[in-house]
Amino acid sequence: MKKLNSFILNNTVNFLDFLYSSRNLQRFWVLEVIARSPYFAFLSVLHFKESLGIKNDKTMFLMKEHFYQAINETEHLKEMEKRGGDRFWIDRFFARHLVLVYYWIMVFYYFLSPANAYDVNIKIEEHAFKTYSKYLKDNPNDQKIKEIAQDELNHVRELNEALSMLTSI
Ligand SMILES: [Fe+2]
Ligand SMILES: [Fe+2]
Repeated sequence: MKKLNSFILNNTVNFLDFLYSSRNLQRFWVLEVIARSPYFAFLSVLHFKESLGIKNDKTMFLMKEHFYQAINETEHLKEMEKRGGDRFWIDRFFARHLVLVYYWIMVFYYFLSPANAYDVNIKIEEHAFKTYSKYLKDNPNDQKIKEIAQDELNHVRELNEALSMLTSI
């Protein structure tokens, strides 16, 4: 399953990189729109399960973590909007349709197989970190992007911790 995750993700990411190869800002904005939705999906599922009585200290911890991560990704998104990443209609159209599909896929994936959903999201966060690191090679003084890149790396670590907690939930 993890190989299938990688295969689908690599192809999607390569397609996005190709599509946005000369438009960094727009690419970052689209990425941040996408990056938020898994956390909303995780929260939706955890909330739903909690409402059915499936809850414990760990699920409460995960809800807090994913809420904070969703807020953090929103801050990234706002930064890209400040820089004009959402200026063009075509990018907004593309990102908003893609996220609609992606959100629901992640809701079902996390409901059915949380470990695999985390695996997908770890790969996405790793890709985000690599994307920002590449940009920083040409723009080493962009302090804000440096901070965002570090946030993405933190998300990778936090998701790995969440993944390791799953076995004991
Ligand atoms: Fe982000
Ligand atoms: Fe992130």
